[in-house]
Amino acid sequence: MAAHQLVVALLFLLPLAGASDHDGFIRQVTDGGGLSRSWPGLLPEAQFAAFVRRHGRRYSGPEEYARRLRVFAANLARAAAHQAMDPSARHGVTPFSDLTPQEFEARLTGLRAGGGGGDVFQRLVRRSMPAAAPATEEEVARLPDTFDWRERGAVTGVKTQGACGSCWAFSTTGAVEGAHFLATGNLLDLSEQQLVDCDHTCSAVAENECDNGCAGGLMTNAYAYLMKTGGLMEQSAYPYTGTQGTCRFDASKVAVRVANFTAVPAGDEGQIRAALVRRGPLAVGLNAAFMQTYVGGVSCPLVCPRAWLNHGVLLVGYGARGFAALRLGYRPYWVIKNSWGERWGEKGYYRLCRGTNVCGVDTMVSAVAVAPPP
Ligand SMILES: *[C@@H]1O[C@H](CO)[C@@H](O)[C@H](O)[C@H]1NC(C)=O
Repeated sequence: MAAHQLVVALLFLLPLAGASDHDGFIRQVTDGGGLSRSWPGLLPEAQFAAFVRRHGRRYSGPEEYARRLRVFAANLARAAAHQAMDPSARHGVTPFSDLTPQEFEARLTGLRAGGGGGDVFQRLVRRSMPAAAPATEEEVARLPDTFDWRERGAVTGVKTQGACGSCWAFSTTGAVEGAHFLATGNLLDLSEQQLVDCDHTCSAVAENECDNGCAGGLMTNAYAYLMKTGGLMEQSAYPYTGTQGTCRFDASKVAVRVANFTAVPAGDEGQIRAALVRRGPLAVGLNAAFMQTYVGGVSCPLVCPRAWLNHGVLLVGYGARGFAALRLGYRPYWVIKNSWGERWGEKGYYRLCRGTNVCGVDTMVSAVAVAPPP
């Protein structure tokens, strides 16, 4: 990138990057919720140095440092482009700003539905997956305006998948943790590593869509595996390592058994809210295209292909007002638990606008039910 292009990108970006209140290096001055901010006019070199310090990055040598600085500068420009396409969110420097988009997708997503998007899921729904009993219109009309399973104790702390495409395992454990909480009132931290090491289940409708540790998987395959194998162990009994290893499943240590799983009607936002309130946190797939640069706010990108689902996450709530300081008024959103640690997004959470299937979030939604203890 030529120097003058970089300067243009930076001028555009800095006020936005300044919105990151996580990054102490970039200060923000807000006058009563307005938009005016001051910024110190940092060059990418200075921002990168702050990033390296903040995240304790160590690169193999000066060449690698220089290469990562170029990637970082390109990501600043990408964040500015994302900001223009997604004005109600804030995009800027994130813990993944030194990764190329390809590295990011390989290491931090991992939903094996890329090629066909939600297509495999829809075929599964048509062929063999039971549908959740739909809510009546009255039930949907009576749903609260805002709802959040975190406030009700159904959600464990934000976890970190690391450099491993195991999002599908975190989405699965999150749904099972929530269902177990609803059934028993007891919140357990369950093991993703069991799924990463032991679950090689293939989709009932696509033989090449198999769960494969850090190389990706599907939540519906994982539920089928859990029903077959007997259940899920606790995190403390089978801790997460972030690499695929030999299966150490111990049937005598199963903490939660899965009874069944159901598909929530796709594309129907009212039905998804009803299922969320009735069944607990839901496993969803989405297109993570705007997440590498996401810092906060309600993400509502103007263009985000729905057919490309590459990331499995957990839907835990919904609300009806966005980032007030932008004065965009009423903006309904989903509250989504991610598995990239608390330093990403809003303390590990993503808010995505609700009602228009943005980024395909209403396409692949599933609920799980746990069986009573043996
Ligand atoms: C799933 O399992 C739960 C708990 O055992 C049960 O109440 C429910 O009827 C089952 N649903 C389906 C669709 O089989």
